[in-house]
Amino acid sequence: MRRSLVAANWKMNGSREFAEAFFKALDLKGANGDVVFCPPFPYLPLVGELVESSGYDNAGLGAQNVSEQEAGAFTGEVSVAMLKDLAVRYVIVGHSERRSLYHEDSALVATKFRAAREAGLVPILCVGETLEEREASQALDVIGAQLDAVSELVGSDCWNGAVIAYEPVWAIGTGKTATPEEAQAVHEFIRSRLGAAGPQVQILYGGSVKAANAASLFEQPDIDGALVGGASLDAAEFAEICRAA
Ligand code: G3P
Repeated sequence: MRRSLVAANWKMNGSREFAEAFFKALDLKGANGDVVFCPPFPYLPLVGELVESSGYDNAGLGAQNVSEQEAGAFTGEVSVAMLKDLAVRYVIVGHSERRSLYHEDSALVATKFRAAREAGLVPILCVGETLEEREASQALDVIGAQLDAVSELVGSDCWNGAVIAYEPVWAIGTGKTATPEEAQAVHEFIRSRLGAAGPQVQILYGGSVKAANAASLFEQPDIDGALVGGASLDAAEFAEICRAA
């Protein structure tokens, strides 16, 4: 039986004051699954402390990105070792915004996935198609290629200890959520591509998840949780999503 996992991707939002007020307001009573908070890098130490003192045993810390490099002259980058210093356990790799805005291709994403995994972190690999690709019936081809880039580099057992997030690009930040059936069909496809690890891997849905639609998504057999953007900035709404998982 897979545990549910709901991750908050705060993206480039927040402040010290915001984080302190958020955790003061957060009430995760009744949430039974795992919850991960992914603040911007500067707030990892603070949010780590707030998670620790939240009293919610299943809460953890995640990063929104990581360098594939170990150390050295890579200005602006953050290494897996640095994340481990901050008690980070999860790291998002290949978010569509990294792929589209910062030109991270699947080959680079695969090296980030490998670096995270080799360091003992849990990579959350983001995959998903654009509206154009969906309308051209290419969604599964695109997602399959994103998965293959990782398994070809890391090996077919790469999915052990990893998490995958299906984030249709056309649903991110748009208020247009995939229907539970649309999302389930893609999750089922993704799981079919994971080999022996398939039954154990948590596959999250991301893309305009709200308290109002979370339960219908989580009812689907292959949707194990969510990667939440906008709604994760509201403590009450995010807690409701966590309770629905
Ligand atoms: O990583 C999660 C994010 O891309 C989804 O954003 O605002 O549609 O929940 P949002």
